[in-house]
Amino acid sequence: MQNIPMARPTWDDEMLAAAVRTLNSRHWVKGPEGQAFGQEFAAMCGAHGGTPCQSGSVALWGALNLLDIGPGDEVLVPSLTYISTATCVNLVGATPVFVDVEPEYWCVDLGALEKARTPRTKAVIAVHLFGQMSDDRLPAWCKSHNIAYIEDAAQAHGAVSANGTMAGAVGDVACFSFFPSKNLAVGGEGGMMMTHRVDLVARMNALVNNGRDARLEAQSLGSNFRMSEVSAAIGRVQLTHLPSWLERRRAIAQRYHQAFDGIRGLTTPSVRPGTKHAWHQYCLVAEDPDGLQKTLERHGVDSRIYYSTPCHRQNVYNQHPQHNESFPVTDDIAHRLVAIPVFHEMTDDEVARVVDAVLAFAQP
Ligand SMILES: Cc1ncc(COP(=O)(O)O)c(C=O)c1O
Repeated sequence: MQNIPMARPTWDDEMLAAAVRTLNSRHWVKGPEGQAFGQEFAAMCGAHGGTPCQSGSVALWGALNLLDIGPGDEVLVPSLTYISTATCVNLVGATPVFVDVEPEYWCVDLGALEKARTPRTKAVIAVHLFGQMSDDRLPAWCKSHNIAYIEDAAQAHGAVSANGTMAGAVGDVACFSFFPSKNLAVGGEGGMMMTHRVDLVARMNALVNNGRDARLEAQSLGSNFRMSEVSAAIGRVQLTHLPSWLERRRAIAQRYHQAFDGIRGLTTPSVRPGTKHAWHQYCLVAEDPDGLQKTLERHGVDSRIYYSTPCHRQNVYNQHPQHNESFPVTDDIAHRLVAIPVFHEMTDDEVARVVDAVLAFAQP
């Protein structure tokens, strides 16, 4: 029997037809698909504009550029995240300042942000980790201190905050990734910058297009980070399915909650009240992560630890003043967060196999 993987990106005849149609059109770059993909995704999120680009990492770099963040500036970032949330800050010449996450929801902690804030703080990158919306109070907090709010929504396509705003329309700029394992994919690498700020849209589009305006004159610095038309065409088809895929992810998460709640040695993930989680990952906090992973492996179920080495402790930051700093929550959970498969294409049978495997660990 085949292992149940962590993700299985959807690829079907509709996506194939969109890709072939786009290739046959010979309009392979800078065409209608990219434009429509940006508009349609932004409309779904309730944002003003979306600019497809080559990856989530590029989107983060672009967001900092758009907000004029550079040398001398500090950007607050959680340490419990994928590395590019932090390294994008260095890439624009600014300094990432690492902070701890909330014990219940694992997103950046407002109290920790307040403590880390200095007159040089220009932005916060809040990661909607695993698809969980960050604290709803963050936009107001940022505004009151004149700090830009960047959403790292790489894992949060379709997540909704308690006030009904969808990931992508909460911060000044939001960044999505379409890496194949994500909730929405484009048949390769891909990402998107999104904003609800009308004043940023033109520059956001220009940034991935060598800073050029509609008359092809460069008005600002940029580079070529455009998404190909084929990827955008695939993304547009995937977008039409996102609502039902999210429902499936939510139903699987609900099944896991029921099955695993109250089991000794395992803590199920909490959902921030009033919000809708996008369940990019379903992570159990395990007292014995190694034992859990070995049992899952024996039962043919893949799993991952997210993120065993928090960003500030990785080698790239061995000269960073916070390299050896301890963050109580991050340090406590980082090596114990065991992600189990929760992708939308899982069959009922696969879900049952995952449940049985986890229960086999809990009740050997
Ligand atoms: C939280 C987070 N931020 C940023 C990224 C970067 O996205 P990409 O891999 O498309 O560059 C990822 C991708 O894994 C991510 O999970």
